[in-house]
Amino acid sequence: MSVFEHVVPLNLLVQINEAINAEREAWRPRDGRHASALARQFAELLRTTSAFTSMETQVRAAARRWYSRKFGQEPHSDPLYVLRCVNRDMPFQSYLRHFDSHVLTVLIPLQTVGTDGKNGDLMVRLKQRQGFSVLSHLVIKSWLFVEHRLPLALRRIVIAFDDILRGYERIPCTPGNVYVFNGFITLHHNLDVSAGERRSLIIHYYDPELANATRTVLRKLQALFDWANYRF
Ligand SMILES: [Fe+2]
Repeated sequence: MSVFEHVVPLNLLVQINEAINAEREAWRPRDGRHASALARQFAELLRTTSAFTSMETQVRAAARRWYSRKFGQEPHSDPLYVLRCVNRDMPFQSYLRHFDSHVLTVLIPLQTVGTDGKNGDLMVRLKQRQGFSVLSHLVIKSWLFVEHRLPLALRRIVIAFDDILRGYERIPCTPGNVYVFNGFITLHHNLDVSAGERRSLIIHYYDPELANATRTVLRKLQALFDWANYRF
C-alpha cells in the first residue's frame, strides 16, 4: 500500500461532492457502486492537477512493469472507473473481502464519516498471494462467492480468524490523499458505516483477464458435464 498525501485539493473535493449531491436522488444503487461516466468525469477533473497526473504516471508505470514481469506481455485494458457511496443502510456491503480483477487500484477518498470503529475504513490482508493461475483463481473465487453469501456476523467471524492467522491492516483513509495498492494480489474489504455517507472514487488499471479465463474453464467444465450426462 502506497499513500500519496495532499494530492487532491480541497476545492476539487468540494466540487466533486457537490456534483454527487446533485445526482444523489436519481442514483441509489443497492450496493452503492456506480461504474459510470460520472466517475470518469471526476477522474478527468483530478487529472487537471499536476500532483494527480504525476502520481498516476508513476504508479501506472510501476504497475505496467509488474504486469509485464508476471504475465509476459504488456497490459492493454482500459481503466475502470467506480464511484462508491456507502451508508449505514448497507451493512451487507461490508466485510466482503475480495481480490480485484485489475492489478492496480487507486483509491481516492472523497468523503469520510468520522473516526469511530464503523467508518467504512479499508482493511487489507498483510500476506499477499504469491502464485496465481486460472485454477487457483477459480478455487479462491468459488470460496469467496460462498463467503459473500454468509450472514454478516459469520463473515466477520471468518475474517476475525483470518486476522489472527495472517493479519490485516486498517487503512484510515483521508480525503486529499490517494491510496494505491495491487488489489489483484491483496485480499481486502471495507468495514461497515454507522452514520453518514462514505464516498470514494476508485480507478482500476490493467486487467489480466484471469476472470475471463476462469469463466472459460467453467464453461468447458459445464460442456464436459453435459457431454457425460448425454453419453452415460
Ligand atoms: Fe476492491
